Amino acid sequence: MRLLITGGAGFIGSNFVHYILKKYPDYEVINLDALTYAGNLENLKNLENNPRHRFIKGDICDADLVDKLAKEVDIIVHFAAESHVDRSILDSAAFVRTNVIGTHTLLEAAKKAGNLRFHHVSTDEVFGSLGSQDAPFSEVTPYDPRSPYSASKAGSDHLVRAYFHTHNLPVTISNCSNNYGPYHFPEKLIPLVITNLMEGKKIPIYGDGLQVRDWLHVEDHCRAIDAIIHKGKIGETYCVGGNSEKTNMDIVKTILEILCRDESWIEHVEDRKGHDKRYAINFDKIKNELGWQSQVAFEDGIKKTVQWFIENESWWKNIKSGEYEKYYQEQYKK
Ligand code: NAD
Ligand code: DAU
Repeated sequence: MRLLITGGAGFIGSNFVHYILKKYPDYEVINLDALTYAGNLENLKNLENNPRHRFIKGDICDADLVDKLAKEVDIIVHFAAESHVDRSILDSAAFVRTNVIGTHTLLEAAKKAGNLRFHHVSTDEVFGSLGSQDAPFSEVTPYDPRSPYSASKAGSDHLVRAYFHTHNLPVTISNCSNNYGPYHFPEKLIPLVITNLMEGKKIPIYGDGLQVRDWLHVEDHCRAIDAIIHKGKIGETYCVGGNSEKTNMDIVKTILEILCRDESWIEHVEDRKGHDKRYAINFDKIKNELGWQSQVAFEDGIKKTVQWFIENESWWKNIKSGEYEKYYQEQYKK
């Protein structure tokens, strides 16, 4: 199989590229990524000489480019997005462009290529925010996005479904909860906490820190997408979750304990605007129909993740110092 993976230099996309090339020795990957601030070729460093991996620096909004690439593959697995809620609060233009227009450009390319299989990687945030007693999100939860990020992802999900119903495009969608693991960009909570502590900086906790997220190790997310692209039913959505609801304070305290620090490192700061209170996922459908469930317990996954950041200090230090931009600019001058 030949896959066009978009956003394969980002956090989850790069994990998926490594996962798929390792698991399927006869698969080939075309990796299309614009290398925005979040895209990092260091995430793909050991694939430089792999003949089954072709990296293309390019924009999913470039119709000529994606039309051409779509004709070369059997499936598009679409990760590319602007992904950080805080950035979408400051300026949402890039979110609408990449997440909505970019997804539309890819869908058009898939349609023109001749009903190309299309898997869309989406988020649980499209369902809005839960109260503490509410039932978890599932595939039938009505959409209720509340940040510019989640609204743009909701827009992209609707377009994907519309191309299935209107054009019979063979699509699937996954709506997943918060991921963590290797190559997680250090603007997000878990890598920010780990790297701040390693740098001797305080941990900024928005508001009271009692917001709840469901955490899933990125390898489990990769296994879920693998199951969907191979066994998923066309036209269907699958909710993916880790059965691991934690408050932000729980997360921070766990990491403080692993790194043998006390709670004086926590600093409560101004709350995020429109901060969603709780996300939780009912993943019965993917479990019952495709036999997927998470394999990495949070308690193990978080220890492994802290260890990864300890062992890969230069990776995140390059990002925090802006060095990684120089690295990829050098690579692509060639
Ligand atoms: P990320 O921000 O780490 O990576 C996004 C990648 O997309 C980067 O490599 C970036 O360069 C690339 N990109 C951005 N705009 C592009 C464009 N116009 N053209 C081509 N490439 C472009 O994001 P992530 O956390 O890896 O998330 C990947 C996907 O998974 C997103 O669609 C996100 O909505 C979804 N998701 C993320 C999580 C999570 O916890 N991180 C959970 C559920 C779903
Ligand atoms: O639920 C899936 C989503 O998870 C993905 O769709 C998004 O792409 C991904 O970024 C993530 O969104 P969150 O907003 O939940 O993740 P983030 O790591 O930004 O924040 C997690 C929680 O921690 C949230 O309640 C805000 C809080 N937070 C975050 C940061 C960066 C803090 O308290 N302090 C911080 O400095």
